Amino acid sequence: MLAIIGGSGLSQFSALEVSHRRRARTPWGEPSAALTFGHVAGRPAVFLARHGDAHSIPPHQVNYRANIWALCECEPVGIVSVAAVGSIHPDLRPGDLVLPHQIIDYTWGRPSTYHEGPDSVVTHVDFTEPYDPLLRRQLAEAATAIGALVRVDAVYAATQGPRLETAAEINRLERDGADVVGMTGMPEAILARELGLPYAAINVVANYAAGRGDSRQGVSLEAIHDVLDRAMERVRAIIRTMLASDD
Ligand code: HPA
Repeated sequence: MLAIIGGSGLSQFSALEVSHRRRARTPWGEPSAALTFGHVAGRPAVFLARHGDAHSIPPHQVNYRANIWALCECEPVGIVSVAAVGSIHPDLRPGDLVLPHQIIDYTWGRPSTYHEGPDSVVTHVDFTEPYDPLLRRQLAEAATAIGALVRVDAVYAATQGPRLETAAEINRLERDGADVVGMTGMPEAILARELGLPYAAINVVANYAAGRGDSRQGVSLEAIHDVLDRAMERVRAIIRTMLASDD
């Protein structure tokens, strides 16, 4: 079974033939929404809406630990996380798809480990390569198979939100080496790693980041919905193709 986490623009996964929904409870609290089980291209899959069914949970209040724990209990082969991002790299335009290979974490105050509490021992987890190389390759191959262009290497900057960044903050992220910016990539990726789950992300460029491209004077939120709607069609096709070709 593949687990899929959907973000802004993907709070339902229409490629999923739904069999049932189940509310999960975890030692870390309740996930953002009920888990939706079903099949994509005849293969079992489970879907979770990161921001809740009504898109009401902001990035800094998502219960990432409950989300990843609940998915882990379904024993998936991996997690594909879909998330909207702003573009920092000049080559990346709204509507483009990105399979990031690295993360810089600027978030703060988010519960970001399972290794804490009275019964826990201090544990340091290797995170040199935050995304699973095999899952990334499968996604890239599926994208190639359907002729969807994806950028296969990019550094993802995870910011705290829910506000967007200032232009100076985006300049700083660029100097740090970031290509795209989003608000939910962390601690999702490290929690999956702590539980030993292969994790990869498909980022959908929703807008130019603050101070860039047509966001020079400000980020227009109206345009974002249209861009996401159109791009999510390709995201669904990539995941469908990846699952269909999985023997
Ligand atoms: N910044 C942070 N997160 C985002 C953006 C952005 O410009 N666009 C979509 N998610």
